[in-house]
Amino acid sequence: MNDQRLPRRHADLLVQGGTVITPNGAERIDVACVDGRVVALGDLQQTWSADTQLDACGLHVLPGVVDSQVHFREPGLTHKENLEAGTRGAVLGGVTAIFEMPNTSPLTLTPSDLQAKLDAASGRAWCDHAFYIGGSAVNAEQLLELENLPGCAGVKVFMGSSFGDLLADDTEVLRRILRHGRRRMAVHAEDETRLRERKAIVETSGDVRQHPVWRDETSALMATQRIVQLAAETGRRIHVLHVSSAAEMEYLARHKSRVTVEVTPHHLTMHAPDCYERLGSLAQMNPPVREQRHQDALWQGIRDGVVDVIGSDHAPHTLDEKAKAYPQSPSGMTGVQTLLPLMLDHVHAGRLSLQRLVDLTSGGPARIFGIEGKGRIALGFDADFSIVDLQARRTIRNDWIASVSGWTPYDGVTVTGWPIHTVVRGHVVVRDAHLVSLQPPGEPIRFLETNSLGQQGGTYA
Ligand code: DOR
Repeated sequence: MNDQRLPRRHADLLVQGGTVITPNGAERIDVACVDGRVVALGDLQQTWSADTQLDACGLHVLPGVVDSQVHFREPGLTHKENLEAGTRGAVLGGVTAIFEMPNTSPLTLTPSDLQAKLDAASGRAWCDHAFYIGGSAVNAEQLLELENLPGCAGVKVFMGSSFGDLLADDTEVLRRILRHGRRRMAVHAEDETRLRERKAIVETSGDVRQHPVWRDETSALMATQRIVQLAAETGRRIHVLHVSSAAEMEYLARHKSRVTVEVTPHHLTMHAPDCYERLGSLAQMNPPVREQRHQDALWQGIRDGVVDVIGSDHAPHTLDEKAKAYPQSPSGMTGVQTLLPLMLDHVHAGRLSLQRLVDLTSGGPARIFGIEGKGRIALGFDADFSIVDLQARRTIRNDWIASVSGWTPYDGVTVTGWPIHTVVRGHVVVRDAHLVSLQPPGEPIRFLETNSLGQQGGTYA
């Protein structure tokens, strides 16, 4: 048959000429998208036309990056961040979906708290999104119902106080929380009792270099051990957020069956005391950035396959707030926009492969949280792409940061590897590193285990 006579098929979007990271590896193929989903992969130049063409020659097309830990502060703390600016930073940084944390004001504890966030994101979010419900003594018995609400990413528990009033450190409360739910539960693991006992260390010294001495490795390990044991006792899957220490990584490597592990770019990129000497309280984060040997152990955890996910823990505070004398300065830094540039730089430096990075930022989150239609570039999956230039050398600057807080601890840092185009369900949101979409296209993320949002998977002839 003569191919010339075949009618050309028509796509909404054709991504052309890129090196596409698929489950098969790196392939020089085009990608056609219709109604926000991938409908064809291959050499499509002769057989497809499209409303929008996106030139990816010389670029790598990654499955959309899912950042499963951000704090966007809306409602109540919008002088630090909001859903519009937070998600704008996300897409400028090549992130196509986020899970947002419940330590807002009010806390996210009820169906109406969750609905208020979904409503606030509607029409204002530049990427897809889901919201965690906070697990606490007041809503423990409702959590099974709550975690199944559309747009809910699952339950998040703070075992140690960080920022905001959400805390569940009592073992009996933790048992109640774990027993009332089935989805993977995310945990901030620092031992509250030990943190309280040791707070005097920093109250007297006022020295931010003591932050990892106060919130030490043992504080993290104690909480991690306790929650892993409670998860085993209650038969619950858990996700230990922002693992920061060698001891936890060693422990978690032996308890992987029910437990998944997140590390953050800041723990992989910075180390103490250097970061505190250079950046003061801008480097202050919970759990803290620790000495080089801990960072080395996190990298080993990535190489050994212990780590499942990289999340940014984007946690903005204003520069004025951060300038307060330590320890009154709040812990947290921006990160959603710098996650991918920093991690591409680590790929360039040979610390991990591009394929491993893609699994940590896309396949991993999709797999462990049961995200519907995301996590890989494949037929029928959402057309979410983080299209990057692996060779571009760029300097991260505060004025590039979209966050309301307007700063990054990496101001002035030059990286190799940069997000160029960002596509969210077939919408080209960022083109040539600039926001080009007129309307924020973000929608609630769909999960396999929860009530559907009324959207059906598409079928394509
Ligand atoms: O440093 C942190 N800040 N760690 C957290 O877990 C919370 C966060 C915040 O919300 O500011």
